[in-house]
Amino acid sequence: MAVTFAKKGFKTTGFDVSEKRVLRIKNKENYIHDVKDKDLKTVVEKKFLNATTDFSFLKNTDAIIICVPTPLQGKNPDMSFINASVEHVKDNLRKGHIIILESTTYPGTTKEVLLPPLEKTGLKEGKDFFLAFSPERVDPGNEKFKTENTPKVVGGVSFVSTVVAKTLYEQVIETVIPVRSSGEAEMVKILENTFRIVNIALVNELTELCERMELNIWDIVDAAKTKPYGFMPFYPGPGVGGHCIPIDPLYLAWKAKTIGLDTKFIQLASHVNHHMPSYVIKRLDKLLTKKKKHPKILIIGVSYKKDVRDLRETPVVEIIEQLQKQGKQVDYYDPLFHYFKINNIDLKCSAIDKKSLAKYDAAILVTDHTKLPYKAFADGLKLIFDTRNAFANRGIVRDNIKVL
Ligand SMILES: NC(=O)c1ccc[n+]([C@@H]2O[C@H](COP(=O)([O-])OP(=O)(O)OC[C@H]3O[C@@H](n4cnc5c(N)ncnc54)[C@H](O)[C@@H]3O)[C@@H](O)[C@H]2O)c1
Repeated sequence: MAVTFAKKGFKTTGFDVSEKRVLRIKNKENYIHDVKDKDLKTVVEKKFLNATTDFSFLKNTDAIIICVPTPLQGKNPDMSFINASVEHVKDNLRKGHIIILESTTYPGTTKEVLLPPLEKTGLKEGKDFFLAFSPERVDPGNEKFKTENTPKVVGGVSFVSTVVAKTLYEQVIETVIPVRSSGEAEMVKILENTFRIVNIALVNELTELCERMELNIWDIVDAAKTKPYGFMPFYPGPGVGGHCIPIDPLYLAWKAKTIGLDTKFIQLASHVNHHMPSYVIKRLDKLLTKKKKHPKILIIGVSYKKDVRDLRETPVVEIIEQLQKQGKQVDYYDPLFHYFKINNIDLKCSAIDKKSLAKYDAAILVTDHTKLPYKAFADGLKLIFDTRNAFANRGIVRDNIKVL
């Protein structure tokens, strides 16, 4: 978002508590995959983008967009990052400021968590300053939809804040969709992600059923999607990852509980999706017909999603932990990670020459990166358990490749 504003000629400043990230921006070092290196370099060189850890400079800005992390603490929202940002904004709030929260959060946050401390300054929302919510809708790795051409939803605490926020985003984004309130805008984001988690869970559940009935779920989804209306394809997988899909719906579940409601779909979907790593291992065990005490397994792809250098909530952690617990020897290959170090897992990326591949009793394809050497894997590995239908999607169908 910062680069998008800077590219359009807005003097933009990134505020971060991380000295390291601020330095990287100042040094024109791009750390976000979806931002082009060239764009970052240009806007920093032209002095349209700067970065700082000095929050007192917030006073000199006209618009403040907050996009700090919103993780979970257990199963509850961790609002500490938002609270810390609001304190910084409050200390530097002045007449005419527009503040927009973009962090994904439960409906009610902008009005309940941001508004009270900001109004404690004596300034009035909708008159002295403006406050709105607008969900970040970035789809990491998506080549077609970038910040500029992804429609942006905005909802203000007051009507006038909706108008101000909409006007701001319209300077840089093709389509801006105003909704009635900040609460509606917050709910839009959670609805989008809940829709995904529920539909992924549905198809994951059907995968196990199809296996028992000797049906191919991938063929079924592909045939169903030929229906020109009323169906949208979702595919099974080894579990959901990323910091959005598995987490955001739990923000809603938490909020629902505080007002005495149960969000049964979310709980059920989380339960089904969490079960997938165990199911993948169960299927692999069925395929490993030669019973060895310590079979050697290669994990292909560790990020939570293809072509993305992001390990947050990746289901591969649980898959590797469970395999190691069973006494299996686990290596991995992922062109985006030289090392894989999470929890008690500490692995170095494996070689994948012919001789190295021949050592493995089986491989599990977890993440279907575009740039994997699919043909070499198909030729060199004894057995591949493909949890993404990645080989068939590339026209590689062999007896040694089994699909989820
Ligand atoms: N990345 C995505 O694709 C994506 C998509 C949709 C929604 N979101 C939402 O956007 C929010 C941010 O996600 P992200 O992936 O950019 O997180 P991130 O962890 O990559 O970046 C957050 C940044 O905020 C900084 N930060 C932490 N506390 C701060 C504070 N008090 N003041 C200023 N900076 C602070 C961190 O140092 C970090 O640089 C989350 O709510 C997430 O759910 C992200």
